[in-house]
Amino acid sequence: MGITTNCSQEVIEMAANGLKNGHLVAFPTETVYGLGADALNEKSVRSVYSIKGRPANHPLIVHISSINQLDNWATEIPSYAKKLARDCWPGPMTLILKRSVQAKDFVTGGQNCVGVRVPAHPVALALLAEFEKLGGMGIAAPSANKFGAVSPTTAKAVFQEIGIGLGINDLILDGGQSSIGLESTIIDCTNSYATIIRPGAVTLKHIKKTLRSTKLSLVEKSQIRASGGLVKHYSPKAEVLVNVVPKEGDGLIALSEFKTPKNVFRLANPNNSEEYARLLYSALREGDSKAIKRIVVIPPNGDGLEVAINDRITKASSKIIEK
Ligand code: TXA
Ligand code: MG
Repeated sequence: MGITTNCSQEVIEMAANGLKNGHLVAFPTETVYGLGADALNEKSVRSVYSIKGRPANHPLIVHISSINQLDNWATEIPSYAKKLARDCWPGPMTLILKRSVQAKDFVTGGQNCVGVRVPAHPVALALLAEFEKLGGMGIAAPSANKFGAVSPTTAKAVFQEIGIGLGINDLILDGGQSSIGLESTIIDCTNSYATIIRPGAVTLKHIKKTLRSTKLSLVEKSQIRASGGLVKHYSPKAEVLVNVVPKEGDGLIALSEFKTPKNVFRLANPNNSEEYARLLYSALREGDSKAIKRIVVIPPNGDGLEVAINDRITKASSKIIEK
């Protein structure tokens, strides 16, 4: 196993072959890095769960190369879901749909629905295209971190999180820093209306605009099991405190308009919400690598991408672990 920085066509072909032969490939997406396995190979998918330390009843997202592959995984797709897929893919949005016979329990966590996404990162798309040429149907991939920990937004962070669990034939593809930095928006499309179950870079406003007349609701707790929906998630080792005055020795993540008090470690200094989202997870990681005990986070205000940023900060700072 190694980190491959040169994602040439040759390397992509090797990675796709590896997947087809049951090996794992961690790959970049525009949201966060994923740990990929052939979505039809039970043994490979099970090894993803064991490397992550993730309970088997938490489903994985199936990544596909284009909307044309959607019917392979989902059935009875409502027209509003197709509209969203046409508008937002490739991109940071996952649709939860009624599963096809191909989407087995080991991918869906035993649920009758499947999560599907077309990622926008060129390396992810090249890998998917190559994998499909070999007869592959989709790559099942959760974020490439230990269960409950912060998602990786660089190949180095993937290596630090799960490198030790990967086998000699597994690969980490380095596609640079994820441009969005937060996991995809998840939309439950198993009802006659859309429900956002995890906020992300595809915002409520954008979804409303796409759907216009379609009834849209936002639920706080869906019946559907989404592990990012647990109260404590996306957590570093440090204690995360929100909107408090930082003390000496604390780490600080805030917009650049907030000045750094004396003897406080500035972990991120973003100029706007997009930068904030991109830097948040690497800043939490840096706090841990510096063995900082407390990280103070001042979240940005707003009803766009800020909703997703605040959601992750709330979960990172929560002390409640839901079983
Ligand atoms: O941006 C992302 O979505 C990244 C990249 C790698 O694509 N992936 C990601 O995967 O965040 P993961 O497994 O860490 O989070 C995906 C969430 C989980 O909370 C999972 O429970 C939910 O999606 N999910 C996946 N399939 C589902 C299904 N059939 N029903 C309900 N929730 C599902
Ligand atoms: Mg995750």
